[in-house]
Order: sequence, then C-alpha cells, then structure tokens
Amino acid sequence: MSKVAKLELDSKVYEFPIVVGSEDEHSLDISTLRSKTGYITLDEGYGNTGSCLSNITFIDGEKGILRYRGIPIEELAEKSTFVETAYLIIYGKLPNSQEIKDFSSLLTKNEMLHEDMKFHFEGFPTHAHPMAILSSMINAAGCFLPEVLNPDEVFLTQAARLLSQVRTIAAFSYRKSLGLPIIYPKPIYKYTANFLHMMFSEPYEDYELQPEVVNALDLIFLLHADHEQNCSTSTVRMVASSQANLFASAAAGVCALWGPLHGGANQAVLEMLEDIHKSGDNGSRFIEAAKDKTSGKRLMGFGHRIYKNYDPRARIIKKKCDELLAVLKRKDPLLDIAKRLEEGALSDPYFIDRKLYPNVDFYSGIIMRAIGIPLSMYTVMFAIGRMPGWIANFKEIHDAKDSRIYRPRQVYTGRTLTHYTPFRERV
Ligand code: ACO
Repeated sequence: MSKVAKLELDSKVYEFPIVVGSEDEHSLDISTLRSKTGYITLDEGYGNTGSCLSNITFIDGEKGILRYRGIPIEELAEKSTFVETAYLIIYGKLPNSQEIKDFSSLLTKNEMLHEDMKFHFEGFPTHAHPMAILSSMINAAGCFLPEVLNPDEVFLTQAARLLSQVRTIAAFSYRKSLGLPIIYPKPIYKYTANFLHMMFSEPYEDYELQPEVVNALDLIFLLHADHEQNCSTSTVRMVASSQANLFASAAAGVCALWGPLHGGANQAVLEMLEDIHKSGDNGSRFIEAAKDKTSGKRLMGFGHRIYKNYDPRARIIKKKCDELLAVLKRKDPLLDIAKRLEEGALSDPYFIDRKLYPNVDFYSGIIMRAIGIPLSMYTVMFAIGRMPGWIANFKEIHDAKDSRIYRPRQVYTGRTLTHYTPFRERV
C-alpha cells in the first residue's frame, strides 16, 4: 500500500498520498487539500513546492548532481554536443546516427528567418537590450508560421525552427545593434559554428572558426540546456498551461531569464569583476560588502536555490576557462579576480554557513569574453542554450492528458470590504 501523510487540522485528521520520484524524492500530494479542508498552502518563492511531475532533468542540490534524462552532465560535457544533447532533452533518448542526421538537417532547413522579419529588427533603437529584441522576435517569428497554432501536428518541426532560429535572431540583433550588415547562416556549418559565423563574419571576409572556440561555446550551450523548474522554465510551463503556442511560451521564458537573479547574472558577474578590477580591490573589500545586507551588493554568480554544494556546471566551466585561455595564449585579470573571490568566499563563514557556492554564471562570462561575445549578449547565450529545456517542458505540458491551467492561489492581506466614496468626501 502506498504511504500517506496525516494532517491534523481543527481536530480532524486528513490523509494525503506521498508521491515518491524515481530518485526517491518524497513529496506530499496536496491536490485535494482545499477541497477536503478549506485550507491552501503558503509558500512564497515556491521553495517547498513541486509544481509538476517531470521526467526531463534530475538535480540533487545537496550532492551537486545534475542529469539530463538520467545522464550525468559531466558525461555529456565530455562526450556529447549541444545538438545531440538538445535531441536527448526534447526526444527523451540519445539519437542513433540516422536520427541525429535527420535532426541536424531539420535544424539547417529551418535556420533562415522570413525575409520580412528584417523589418522588425529595424524598429528597435540601437541601444535596445538584445534580450528585449530576442523575446520580441521569437514571438514575431511565431506570427510568420500559421501552423504554429496547431502544435499537435507539427510540434517537432516547430521545435526545430525555434531551436535553429533563436541563434539567427540573436546574431541578427547583435549585428543590428552595431549597424553592421546581416550575415546569413551557411548550411555547411554545424549549429555553434554557424552562430559564430553569423555573429562575426563580414560580407567581404569569413570569420576564422577555431575549433577550441567553437567547442567552448558549444559546451556553454550544452551546460545550460535544461535545469528543471527554475524561474524561466516555470514561466514557460505557466504560459504553455494556458495552451499558448510554443513561440509565445519561449518568448515569455526569455523575459523571465533576463533578470540578474537568474540568467542575467552572467552579465552582472562580469560587470562586478570589471568594477573590482577598476577599483584595485583584490576582492576582499567586495566580499565584505556582499556580506553586508545594507550595501545592496551580492556576490553575483554565487548561491543557488537548489544547489547547496558546488554547481557541477560551474566546475566544468572553470576548467574550460583555463583550457581556452591557454589555447588562445591569453591572460585575463578578471579570471584571477574570480578565482580569488571564490577562494575568499569558500573560506568565509558567511558563505560556508549559508552553503553559497559558485553557480553556472560565475565563470561562463570569462569564456564568452575570450570568444569576443559582447557583454550585453551573455544572457542571450544562456537563452540559446536553454531552448531545448523550454521546448521539452512545453511538450510535457502539452502531452499531459490531465494538464490543467497553472493558477496558484493567494492569501489576501488587503482591506476588507470598503465602499466607493465620491471625490468631495475623500480626504
Ligand atoms: N551573495 C551574498 N549573500 C547571498 C548570496 C550572494 N550571492 N546569495 C544568497 N545570499 C544570502 C542571502 O542574503 C540569505 O542570507 P540570510 O539567510 O542571512 O538572509 C541567504 O544567503 C539565502 O539566500 P536567498 O536569497 O534566500 O536564496 P534564494 O534561494 O532565494 O536565492 C539566488 C538564490 C537568487 C540565486 C541568490 O543566491 C542570489 O541572489 N545569487 C546571486 C545572483 C545569481 O548568481 N543568480 C544566478 C543563479 S543561477 C541561475 O539562475 C542560472
């Protein structure tokens, strides 16, 4: 017999089923709580709330474990590519050689934007943040695909279009922000090489693709590919739950990702490192400020709602930073500062007691800086990487037979009944 939890409320005892996940994660199924008891739960920030059952990504934050469809992130980082990992996340299994060929050619076939989309780029001011452009243009891309409104029949083509076109949109928005001519994708290039080509080639000269640079960016995309029910993925699921289409749901995900407490942290980390560098601080002054709640500062790229241990992605990225800078024969003073900050924080009781470790954003900016990606595009790189996760989560919502619209409740703390007063009686 399955286990139940007993809850005593107002002298009555209620039973709720305990649901156990495949990795032995225990939860109380309280879906009948309100109908049985009249009570709801209150969990601001959702730190104790499982919003869904999902079989895409597993995280054990205490142990620092991350797996996509059961496969450890370390294995994928070493052996896979972003496109293969995207397939794994979206389709639920590693592709065989024919499947990856078909998937890659589907991505290639769908890489071009509708020509009229170029007019939309014209409308943005040059200083517009690329995340604002990305979100708007993903939604706009949906308008050019009438069949998008019927995801049942064409979901996988739509998914390939979104995954492929997100990098075309990102590169176009970068070129536009600098007033440079748009560079079209080249079908001979693989996913990440093609993106770098669209970013950095010129009509008169192709960008020289260095395999180590392509691999480093591909790894960044792969490491960001999914991360269970984080803020942006939950947003995608929330929007998808109303049966909005895939492009609208992903556009909403981009907006949620933009904030500095989430994906925007990669930009904020680099800004922090640059400020520390300019100020001549060796990092210790900043650590003191980050501990002081009145300073308005946080050690960006540190801390995580789920990880109470080293984020496994940060470990992989840190190693790649050293490797890439060595290959490029470059030294970056910001990497030295980042390492000093990490060392300082990890031996400081404030960070130790709160279990604050480097997260995925702490070192990723150093790699992007070495590649020549501009600061304002860092969170866009995160969004490109996260697309497979958003697509797979959208699909889970869409495929679930018993899916309901996401609609949390609240505990109202405002005024009780108050009546309208005419102007002359108002104070
Ligand atoms: N620097 C200094 N103190 C911190 C930091 C930090 N980076 N992160 C958390 N703390 C402190 C909090 O002030 C709090 O202290 P208290 O218990 O004395 O009040 C305690 O640690 C717990 O922090 P919360 O904010 O409650 O943790 P929460 O789970 O809500 O937030 C978050 C997690 C947003 C990631 C937070 O750690 C943070 O702001 N980090 C910096 C921003 C960042 O790197 N974001 C990227 C996260 S990864 C991602 O989204 C891709």
